Amino acid sequence: MSYIIEIEDLQKHYDNSGERFHALRDIDMKVRRGECVILKGISGSGKTTLLGIMAGLDHPSSGKVVVDGEAIAKLPDRHLSRFRGKHIGMIFQHYNLIENFSVRENVMVPLVPMNLDFEEVERRVRESMEVANISHKASMSAGRLSGGEKQRTAIARALASDPEIILCDEPTANLDRANSERFVEILSKLHDMGKSIVIATHDPIFDHLPFEARVVHMEDGRVVEEGRES
Ligand SMILES: Nc1ncnc2c1ncn2[C@@H]1O[C@H](COP(=O)(O)OP(=O)(O)OP(=O)(O)O)[C@@H](O)[C@H]1O
Ligand SMILES: [Mg+2]
Repeated sequence: MSYIIEIEDLQKHYDNSGERFHALRDIDMKVRRGECVILKGISGSGKTTLLGIMAGLDHPSSGKVVVDGEAIAKLPDRHLSRFRGKHIGMIFQHYNLIENFSVRENVMVPLVPMNLDFEEVERRVRESMEVANISHKASMSAGRLSGGEKQRTAIARALASDPEIILCDEPTANLDRANSERFVEILSKLHDMGKSIVIATHDPIFDHLPFEARVVHMEDGRVVEEGRES
């Protein structure tokens, strides 16, 4: 069995003015290569914190976090950003696009530090925009896109570095129903491409996906229940 993410006995707490707050407790979780995991739980249950630790954006207080064979819990920040660039594509609720850059330029941004040749950059940008269904807006500046188009640009940007892992935090929170359904279609393509996907969400649209996914319920920083959907 090959796991892309392995988390063991993970704890994350914050100390504020003498009080300790446990954001994540005793988390044990494994994600198989190519699997899609849906993280559910009420606001404050720890979903974003857990995604941040998987992405190497945040350090756990203790525990083991192994992502694609690399133990990242204690890696220094400068190694973590290189690790993220290679392994992780992130799709968040707020898209963080550069508004006066075109769609194509936004998608190109993560490729800059990779020193690829020009043809390779062109190919990756073109293919990522195709998967994310945004090629028809390639030259438009990001500031003028609709919400759904902004999100699809952010998806293309997340795909450009060809990461094996896609992490999504409330990806449909700002989308209407039609755009949320388009997001699910793109997700289905990413699943078919063999990407490993973790999504934190409240949206019931993820209760009935057109492919197999595993639901992990969180409560008060703990994993309380797991099950299969669709
Ligand atoms: N830097 C911090 N200092 C103190 N507490 C924090 C910090 N960051 C997060 N928390 C707390 O950790 C808990 C988990 O937060 P998290 O953002 O992971 O929840 P969530 O499940 O993503 O919620 P939502 O559904 O609202 O996005 C919250 O109670 C939050 O207030
Ligand atoms: Mg959150």
